[in-house]
Amino acid sequence: MFKDLFHNNDEWAYFDNAATSPTATSVINSEYKYYEKMRANIHRSPHELGQQATVAYENARETVAEFAGFSSPECIFTRGTTESINLLAYSFCSDWGKDDGIYVPSCEHHSNMLPWIELQQRQGVKIYWLEYDNNGLIDLDNLQDVLKSTQSISKRKLLTLAHVGNVSGIEQPLEKIAYFAKTFDCYLHVDAAQSIKYHTYPKADFVSFGAHKMYGPTGIGALCVDQKLLEKMKPWQVGGGTVDRVTIGNAVYSEGVAKFEAGTPNIAGALGFAESCNFLTDIGREKAKEYSKEIIQELNIIVKGLNCEVVNENSDCICSFISEFDAFDVASLLGSQNVAVRGGNLCAEPYVKRISKKGVVRASSGLINDEKDVKMFKVALQKSLDTLTKNSNKE
Ligand SMILES: Cc1ncc(COP(=O)(O)O)c(C=O)c1O
Repeated sequence: MFKDLFHNNDEWAYFDNAATSPTATSVINSEYKYYEKMRANIHRSPHELGQQATVAYENARETVAEFAGFSSPECIFTRGTTESINLLAYSFCSDWGKDDGIYVPSCEHHSNMLPWIELQQRQGVKIYWLEYDNNGLIDLDNLQDVLKSTQSISKRKLLTLAHVGNVSGIEQPLEKIAYFAKTFDCYLHVDAAQSIKYHTYPKADFVSFGAHKMYGPTGIGALCVDQKLLEKMKPWQVGGGTVDRVTIGNAVYSEGVAKFEAGTPNIAGALGFAESCNFLTDIGREKAKEYSKEIIQELNIIVKGLNCEVVNENSDCICSFISEFDAFDVASLLGSQNVAVRGGNLCAEPYVKRISKKGVVRASSGLINDEKDVKMFKVALQKSLDTLTKNSNKE
């Protein structure tokens, strides 16, 4: 139905959209247009080309910010979700110490764990690991208890979590979570790597996401920050573009987002990012979500029919499953039949280790998929499991 919107490779059934999604043709064209017609640097060159590129880049910022539920002066371009979270930790929390607390569900992607573990090791900030069930759903009673019991212990608090998890595709009840965060004076950071395609976040203090899982280019993302908090944040990487004045031995940094974008940024990427927002808006984010969900439901039925256990049956975008075989072996055999999925610990080792000794196979859907892909998946999974069964009988 949507396949024609991509430069697609018909030989593959691509079910690895949660790792990275194919790039929409309109996104590729928008980057091409920059390289062909407007190739100049931004914010510095007085000539016409430089001005066109600057206007296009700043328009892109506006589009991306609005897509996330923020405004343009609140949107910092980064290299992706991981860099956005590191920026948050290094900048906003630069002077946090042992009296401050970070609240993190222990089922998170490594990108939303390691920057906080680093902060703990570097500055002594206390991490409170939060409970979740095997579907990856945060335990709200535990969240409330932990926030309550540490209310007077932690001076400054930040709750950081993925809205949609990358292992089970579970969607956390963000309204309630945001309410608890507010009640207990806790800043809220949403890792929207998997969810930005379908959601906006006007109530969060910080949101991290990247373009490459929403049909955009790789190497570009954003950290959106409530403006009042952005003003308090210090630059974390400095250089050209971040300063108003420099003397020998001193620098006065720019106001606003400029102080976080050192050096020549990924200009073409920013334009492609904005185009990926327009692409999804034009299709309709709700419609795209429904389409993705229908495919996942078909995959769930296939997987269960082959005696595998689905981790969470209610996801819009992910069918993760556990079989009696090593997940990496299953994923490799599917790959050898041109069905692209992922298998292993999915960059969320603590969670995956808790639910399976053999890792998890993850098939994730998107607009590129159609019924032909679903059929290929069925045939290939059956064959992969048969092969592994035969091999194990021989041993
Ligand atoms: C929930 C979640 N957070 C963070 C990331 C990291 O994103 P990126 O590789 O774009 O930095 C991913 C990527 O898979 C993810 O699924």
